[in-house]
Amino acid sequence: MTKNTARNLFFIGTMSCLVIFFVLSIHTMSTIPKHTNSGKLTDDVIAGKKVWEKYDCIGCHTLIGEGSYFAPELKDIYSQKGPAFIRAFLKDPVKVWYGSAEAAKGQRKMPNLHLSDEEINHLTAFFEWVDKIDTHNWPPRPQRAAVQGTETWHPVSAQEAREMERGEAIVKEKGCIACHKIKGVGATVGPDLTGVARRLDMETLHKRLRDPKSVNPSSIMPVYGFSDEQSEAIIAFLKTL
Ligand code: HEC
Ligand code: HEC
Repeated sequence: MTKNTARNLFFIGTMSCLVIFFVLSIHTMSTIPKHTNSGKLTDDVIAGKKVWEKYDCIGCHTLIGEGSYFAPELKDIYSQKGPAFIRAFLKDPVKVWYGSAEAAKGQRKMPNLHLSDEEINHLTAFFEWVDKIDTHNWPPRPQRAAVQGTETWHPVSAQEAREMERGEAIVKEKGCIACHKIKGVGATVGPDLTGVARRLDMETLHKRLRDPKSVNPSSIMPVYGFSDEQSEAIIAFLKTL
């Protein structure tokens, strides 16, 4: 390579990288308003952000991945559980989450911050806005609780949400992934459980959990002896897959 070609290569290479860099930067900058949804920043949303800061919610929660890991990520809370849940929860977190103060003893819990109705309304508007920011599904949150089978948005009641979480805990505790793939993790001894609640009807699911051999006489799946209540919870969780 002569000195001249080397110089040309360097020059052309640098220039084309610069051009690509500027074109991509301009493209990113021009799509930011669309992704951030900034046009919909109403007074209520802004007031909600102030309430969020005033009570230092981020001292326990993450929002779009930023914050503390003591409490759940809240980016999608609006589409996941709906405004009715958010309002009821913020009024009395322990009662909504655990059912009673008794049941919450010794558990991780959110304190009752005694928010006013106005503050709760503003926070709800804030969560609705945050929910619409297009972060390309970041951050991933495991217990996405949108109920399947319904095209339209369906808020999950606090009770349903608790049931799903109980079901998920049982599935974790029993180690179903020793044989099944769940959300991409696990073995392939048994079928992947993605969409299983749509493939099988409720009766079969209950039978399968109570006594696998009643569905398939040569089944190798263990008999766990789940109560009806436990099966209900597991099925509520399977519905989210
Ligand atoms: C001291 C820690 C702490 C603070 C501060 C806090 N939270 Fe929480 N929050 C929690 C915990 C823990 C949970 C999980 C439920 C539970 O265990 O009670 C939770 C749950 C929630 C949920 C329900 C999440 C879900 O997945 O269903 C919402 C909504 C919520 N918090 C909103 C807020 C808002 C808004 C603020 C500020 C005004 C706030 N939190 C401040 C600890 C906290
Ligand atoms: C030792 C392996 C093993 C374990 C552990 C296991 N399963 Fe299974 N499971 C299977 C096999 C194999 C099948 C399918 C063939 C059959 O009928 O045995 C199956 C089938 C199923 C089906 C029906 C799937 C379909 O598409 O028809 C469901 C639902 C299910 N299992 C749920 C669970 C749950 C929930 C747990 C944990 C509580 C669990 N399994 C633990 C082996 C296992």
